[in-house]
Amino acid sequence: MKIHVTDQAGVEHELEGLDGWRTMEVIRDWGLNIKAECGGACSCATCHVFVAEEWMDKVGAPSEEEEDMLDTVADVRSNSRLSCQILLDESLDGLKVTLAPSAS
Ligand code: FES
Repeated sequence: MKIHVTDQAGVEHELEGLDGWRTMEVIRDWGLNIKAECGGACSCATCHVFVAEEWMDKVGAPSEEEEDMLDTVADVRSNSRLSCQILLDESLDGLKVTLAPSAS
């Protein structure tokens, strides 16, 4: 499965995703600019991404806990998600996200 990640400089990267991985882990392991300070525990918001509009329905809504964390970042938008809370499976093959400034 592939995911498409646009970095903070506007460069798009096609990354190999794995079923069951968190989107954050793929982005981090490919060496893109993502802090992910808490390692995926939904308690830092430094894995913030913007989900492409056409993928919003498939990705689904954030949990209440995730929304609370998103409320702490200055650049939150209606399509904001924490990438550690987006678990990859085949239904997300081709997913497109953009790294938020607050992830770096
Ligand atoms: Fe900390 Fe996602 S890595 S909230």
